Amino acid sequence: MCGIVGYLGKEKALDIILASLKRLEYRGYDSWGFVVYNGKKIFLKKVVGKITEAENIAGVQNGFVGIGHTRWATHGKVSENNAHPHFDCQQKIFLVHNGIIENYDLLKEKLLNKGHKFNSETDTEVICHLLEDYKKKFKNLKQAVLETLKELRGSFALVIFDKDNPELLIGVRLASPLILGVGEKEFILASDLLPINLVGQKFIALNDEEIVFVTKKDFEIKNFTNQQKLYLFQEIRWGQEDIEKGDFPDFMIKEIFETPRAVRNTLKGRLLSDEVKLGGIELLGDKLNKISKIVLTGCGTAYYAGLVGKYVFEELTDFQIEIDVASELRYRNYKFDDKTALIAISQSGETADTLEVIKEAKKKNIITLGIVNVPGSSISRIVDAGIFTYAGPERAVASTKAYYSQITALIMLAIFLGLRRKLSRSEAKNILEELKTIPEKQEKILNLESEIIKIASDLTKSRSMLYLGRKFNYPVALEGALKMKEIAYIHAEAYPGGEMKHGPLALVEHDFPVVFINPHDSLYSKSLSNIEEIKARGAKVITITDDINCHFEENFIFVHHTLELLTPLLTTLPLHLLAYHTAKLLNRNIDRPRNLAKSVTVE
Ligand code: AGP
Ligand code: GLU
Repeated sequence: MCGIVGYLGKEKALDIILASLKRLEYRGYDSWGFVVYNGKKIFLKKVVGKITEAENIAGVQNGFVGIGHTRWATHGKVSENNAHPHFDCQQKIFLVHNGIIENYDLLKEKLLNKGHKFNSETDTEVICHLLEDYKKKFKNLKQAVLETLKELRGSFALVIFDKDNPELLIGVRLASPLILGVGEKEFILASDLLPINLVGQKFIALNDEEIVFVTKKDFEIKNFTNQQKLYLFQEIRWGQEDIEKGDFPDFMIKEIFETPRAVRNTLKGRLLSDEVKLGGIELLGDKLNKISKIVLTGCGTAYYAGLVGKYVFEELTDFQIEIDVASELRYRNYKFDDKTALIAISQSGETADTLEVIKEAKKKNIITLGIVNVPGSSISRIVDAGIFTYAGPERAVASTKAYYSQITALIMLAIFLGLRRKLSRSEAKNILEELKTIPEKQEKILNLESEIIKIASDLTKSRSMLYLGRKFNYPVALEGALKMKEIAYIHAEAYPGGEMKHGPLALVEHDFPVVFINPHDSLYSKSLSNIEEIKARGAKVITITDDINCHFEENFIFVHHTLELLTPLLTTLPLHLLAYHTAKLLNRNIDRPRNLAKSVTVE
């Protein structure tokens, strides 16, 4: 999942590369490195550790071209030698790579037998030595790239620099993302959109099996068989304030506080009084009319948003609904039929498992829809239709604001499809009117931060927790538990509230922390009984509820009342804040939690 970047243009390559790596660091942060060239000297730097700890780089001058990398190791331990950029025996060809070269061991053996000397244990380095051989054979770097690509198996986004062709930067894309940013006589190549506005607002998202040859004046895009490719310019929709932390200490808390705005942006321009306008879906015309089954998929938090969507679709439509995590669904012998539509949910639009499920479904001519946050991302480009969530850039590894936008998009989609089947306009009108009040109700919950910090301070010594919820709030329990695991590193498990008596109740002892999400919904009384059973065995129960009397009771977090199917948009917010503040009190690295990366683009 690492981040790659390349720059060609003005005498500021070092500044652009370092600024880009800081913006890409969420993609992987065990080590980093760059190469900058000023026409006379190559400056190569590799560092183990986080880019943000490198304020000034001694002895490196600026140049007009450079490449950079922030790593999440897949092959070869975290070390300076294994950090990218990697290079050939002549130290002329340098490259950075996101992905996995699946046949690297065979290639490496062949290259070693031909006398190549390797500097690293990575899979990536084989590409440098292949390029070296083919450059020698064809005396032409472009031809060397085309020949090298024929030998590679796996996933790779590459940026290649050759000291013998210093005014040429080459980008290659297969199954790992690569974006070309176009400025005024300057160009940037990057793993995603975040660094693009360092040169301008215009960008081109490369497709699989495309190569871009960039010079100081222009660029051309070809496929792997050297045929010219057409391309589409897009524009970035966000500004600098969206990209930086501002006055917030961490991206995660900034993005939690951006949740109301994210939901407003997801809704913007799509709501009429009693129906929903989804232009991306309307493009499908009557293709959806034959659909009787919907399969939802995603990973992690996106999957939990999908789980909320499953309950919402069951409530508002007569579709048969299935859901599975993408990493399971892609390997099941699932019987997709032509009456099935797949809905894939992904903030980054680059998650490998989710992408592969879509590709499998497309092979079977299944209609595929995407609910995606990042424009130009792979998933947004291969699905038949989709809904952009417009939550704005999400940089913390922990996904928060995008989750609420995903649920909002799923609710709108369920209304859109439901109205074409069993949902009445008056029901739709009632839901839409309440949906519009959600951002304001979320803002009120965000004002409870100090109460939540108090509860968090009691949790810092916990070694394990349970999160419980029923129906629409069971996915909320799963999401709350995930955040406590991934940010505070406290083991937390989620169960449907009614499951406790079937085993997990044995875990409960004095002061064992249990979070119970219990708004006044159709199962409120049942959940109250569950809470009493757990309390009777000594648990310390933290209740998320809209029960107005709870305001003054210890370990209650109040959320405003709303329609049952909208409750996850409110009940999850205290759990995101609870995980954040528990982690903060434990001095965790909030935005860069250990072992994780933001976008899992490798399997
Ligand atoms: C969520 O906090 C995690 N970072 C992770 O589970 C994430 O939701 C998952 O990897 C899916 O990412 P995506 O939405 O970009 O596909
Ligand atoms: N496979 C390369 C390495 O291990 C790149 C890793 C990645 O894309 O995260 O260095």
